[in-house]
Amino acid sequence: MFGPFEEEIKKEFLTFSEIKEGQVVLDVGTGSGFAAALLAKAVGTNGRVYSIDPSENALEKAFSRLKEEKLDKIVVLKKARVEELSFKDNFFDRVSSIMSFHHLSDPVRSLKEMYRVLKPGGILVIVDWTRETTVAPHPKEQLYAPDLLFEFIRKALGIKPILRNFGEWMILKVRK
Ligand SMILES: C[S@@+](CC[C@H](N)C(=O)[O-])C[C@H]1O[C@@H](n2cnc3c(N)ncnc32)[C@H](O)[C@@H]1O
Repeated sequence: MFGPFEEEIKKEFLTFSEIKEGQVVLDVGTGSGFAAALLAKAVGTNGRVYSIDPSENALEKAFSRLKEEKLDKIVVLKKARVEELSFKDNFFDRVSSIMSFHHLSDPVRSLKEMYRVLKPGGILVIVDWTRETTVAPHPKEQLYAPDLLFEFIRKALGIKPILRNFGEWMILKVRK
């Protein structure tokens, strides 16, 4: 998914998000299940990953991947949109969005929801292609520059995230 940067990005994401064994994590935008599998391996059998996507097709594909990798008992796949989460407040240790943020139709509302379900002290992490990327399978106009993402986060949460530019990607983190 990340081409030659895959191992580096995985390592960077896991370190940056401070994911630990046994945690409960929300994965926003299941897609192919790449992130769900990565998170499931990190939290292990004592943890839980809730992975949401409005697309049944994505959920089915992800399920096959997770089943094949024997991670399907750790991940709960759920048809849902991040703008309207049914989880209670302060439920998750970590909330992450990997390559899905630019898909969200209402970024400010989505951020508010992601933050609402995060426990105090929990961490929200967003990984996405930057607008300058040459490798994303999307037109540049659909992607965000880091400045715009900062502006969405300021508007939604009133905080300044920590940003790391990473090759053609950006990783942002906010602690509640
Ligand atoms: C490029 S994929 C994400 C890749 C995925 N994280 C992975 O690891 O394979 C983007 C996904 O976001 C989903 N999506 C779009 N709108 C959404 C929303 N409002 N809430 C949650 N997911 C959404 C799409 O259906 C799509 O499957």
